[in-house]
Amino acid sequence: MASSVSSKGIAAIVGVGPKLGRSIARKFAHEGYTVAILARDLGRLSRFADEIAREEKAQVFAIRIDCSDSRSIREAFEGVLSLGFVEVLVYNAHQPTSWHPTNLTDIKVEQFEKSLAVSSVGAFHCAQQVLLGMVERGRGTILFTGCSASLSGIPGYSELCCGKFAMRGLSQCLAKEFQPLGVHVAHVIIHGIVGAPARGAIASSSQQRLLAGEQEQQQTGVWAGEVLMDPDGLAQTYWHLHIQDRSAWTQEIDLHPSNQRYI
Ligand SMILES: NC(=O)c1ccc[n+]([C@@H]2O[C@H](COP(=O)([O-])OP(=O)(O)OC[C@H]3O[C@@H](n4cnc5c(N)ncnc54)[C@H](OP(=O)(O)O)[C@@H]3O)[C@@H](O)[C@H]2O)c1
Repeated sequence: MASSVSSKGIAAIVGVGPKLGRSIARKFAHEGYTVAILARDLGRLSRFADEIAREEKAQVFAIRIDCSDSRSIREAFEGVLSLGFVEVLVYNAHQPTSWHPTNLTDIKVEQFEKSLAVSSVGAFHCAQQVLLGMVERGRGTILFTGCSASLSGIPGYSELCCGKFAMRGLSQCLAKEFQPLGVHVAHVIIHGIVGAPARGAIASSSQQRLLAGEQEQQQTGVWAGEVLMDPDGLAQTYWHLHIQDRSAWTQEIDLHPSNQRYI
């Protein structure tokens, strides 16, 4: 293990872009973990790693991964595990889908397969990379990011729903298999649109965030006037799940913005 790695171990955050992934990485860095952030765009990841390391005075490593490619997952985790033991895995990657519904007959089979590969096969394979070590240590946390499509079929979003349904099933299986061995597995269902972090100038008040929600709604055609979900606020929940007492572990949690007008 690299001598300067945190004694708390590594928090590996898979699927780090400008919204939720970055906020989760920042939160675990803030709490004293050495953080590995993983996604496909290594240039952007490296900028995030520098930013978080500087602002949180933490060690942050950027590692390229393509979660639709088994070899890439194995190689990426060789890199992660060479840093030290993984105490926390957050699986946050998702295959981007159009905000607008797509007729089933217009969805290409490759597009459907890719969504399943990223949401479910990638999640399975990343969990496999860290579980052995967690079981050996009798501790660890694995958190999966879901959305409304994890729970209910939505017309026009079959590839998203099928991938996220499968991830939910995986999370439940892992929770039941590994909780008795000391590994906390939980599924976080986000019901809403994730915005930019509220910190800084991007959106400094709930009113601005509401306006931003309306702008995004114009693009998406859904959730008119809803407050955007603050990724820093969501990241707090990931942290709280991780530090839960093992006598009372959450297996699934759903999160809604305060003024949501539907379930
Ligand atoms: N955004 C929302 O409104 C919303 C709502 C509900 C739930 N969620 C869930 O929250 C999670 C995060 O969403 P977010 O919008 O906040 O994104 P984010 O955390 O800012 O970034 C996620 C990143 O995943 C990476 N990714 C995509 N395909 C990948 C692949 N094949 N291999 C590795 N990494 C991959 C992408 O980076 P690269 O392109 O660099 O790979 C992307 O930027 C997702 O699971 C999503 O389903 C989001």
